[in-house]
Amino acid sequence: MTEPMPMTPAPAPASPALGGELLLDARQVSKRFGGLVAVRTVDFNIPTGSIVSLIGPNGAGKTTFFNVIAGVYELSEGEILFNGEVVVARQRRTWAEPIFWFLIPTIVLLLAIGTLLMGIQVLGELLVLVTLLGVISALLVALMRPRWYVALLARFGIFRSSRPNEMVALGIGRTFQNIRLFANMTALENVMVGMHSRMRATPLDAAFRLGRHNREEEAAVRDARKWIRYVGMAGLENEVARNLPYGNQRRLEIARALASQPKLLLLDEPTAGMNPVETREMTELIARVRRELGITILLIEHDMKVVMGVSDRVTVLDHGEKIAEGSPDEVRANPRVIEAYLGRGAASA
Ligand SMILES: Nc1ncnc2c1ncn2[C@@H]1O[C@H](COP(=O)(O)OP(=O)(O)OP(=O)(O)O)[C@@H](O)[C@H]1O
Ligand SMILES: [Mg+2]
Repeated sequence: MTEPMPMTPAPAPASPALGGELLLDARQVSKRFGGLVAVRTVDFNIPTGSIVSLIGPNGAGKTTFFNVIAGVYELSEGEILFNGEVVVARQRRTWAEPIFWFLIPTIVLLLAIGTLLMGIQVLGELLVLVTLLGVISALLVALMRPRWYVALLARFGIFRSSRPNEMVALGIGRTFQNIRLFANMTALENVMVGMHSRMRATPLDAAFRLGRHNREEEAAVRDARKWIRYVGMAGLENEVARNLPYGNQRRLEIARALASQPKLLLLDEPTAGMNPVETREMTELIARVRRELGITILLIEHDMKVVMGVSDRVTVLDHGEKIAEGSPDEVRANPRVIEAYLGRGAASA
C-alpha cells in the first residue's frame, strides 16, 4: 500500500502546537517478536494539542509502535509516559504482588487461630469469615486494578504496564488499520460501546433498572447521536455496521473512539481504501477534531497529501528505526526518507 511521496507543496499546518507540554513521551522503546526487531530504541514524543504523524514503508513498525502505546503489546525495552506518568514499561517485582493479596488475610487468620486456641469460639469463627472475605476482595481488586491499587503497588516498587482498557480509561482512544467494528450492531450501538469506560452504573443498577442506569443510558444515547453527527453520519444511527459503506465504517470507528473522551487519539491509516473525496473529508475531520475538541492526534498514514496537510510534525520509521523527524517540509526533503520510500539511488537522482 506504500505510495511514492508526491513532491507537491503542502499547505502549512493550521497551528504548530510544538514545543509545549508533552502528552505522550516514549523513551528508547523497542519491541521484538522473537528474533525480529519490529521497533528499535525509538524516542518519540507528542506535544499536547499537536497532530503528529508516523510514516514509513510497509513493515516499518508503525502499527507495532501504536500497539505498544495502546497497551496491546508489552514492550521489550524502554518506557512510555502519559501525562508525565509512566504507564508502559518493563514489569518490575510482579512476583511480590501476591504477597499483597494474602498479607492482611494471613494476619487475620493467625489471629483467628489464636482466638480459637484460647477458646473464644465466636470471635474465632468471625475472624475466619473475615479472612475469607479478605482474600476474595483482595483478589477482586487485583483483577479490576483500580488506580489507587496500581499507585499503591508502585509505592512498593511493583509495576505492571497498563492494559488496553486501562489506556482507554487514561484517555487514549484509537482506530484500527483493519476496521474492527461490531459488524452486527447498529452504528449507535457501536458508538455506545466506546462509552463503556466512562459509565459508572454497576450491573446491579442495570439488573434492577435503577435510576442511575436509566439516566446514564439516556445520556449515552444522546452522546452517541452527537458523535455520529459530528463525524458526518447523521441519519445512519440505526444502520447495521456491516451494511455501511466503507468510508462510513472508518468514520464510525472515529466516532466510537471520540465517545471514550480521549485526550490522545491514535489513528492507524484512517484513509486507507478511501476515494479522493472521502480522503479529503477525512483530512478535514482530523483537523477539526484537533481544532474544535482540542484532542491531540497521532496519525499513521500512507497518503502523503493527508500527512503533509494536517501534521505539525512527521516522524519516519524504516525497519523499526527512526530515520527522520521534523516539519512536513523538512521530512519531504530528507534524502534518507526519499531513499527509504523510493529505494537506494533515488535520493541522489
Ligand atoms: N504480532 C506479530 N508477531 C510477529 N511479527 C509481527 C507481529 N506484528 C508485526 N510483526 C512484524 O513486525 C514488523 C513491523 O510490522 P508493522 O505491522 O508494525 O508495520 P507497519 O509499519 O504498520 O506496516 P504497514 O504499513 O504495512 O501497515 C513486520 O516485519 C511484521 O511482520
Ligand atoms: Mg500498519
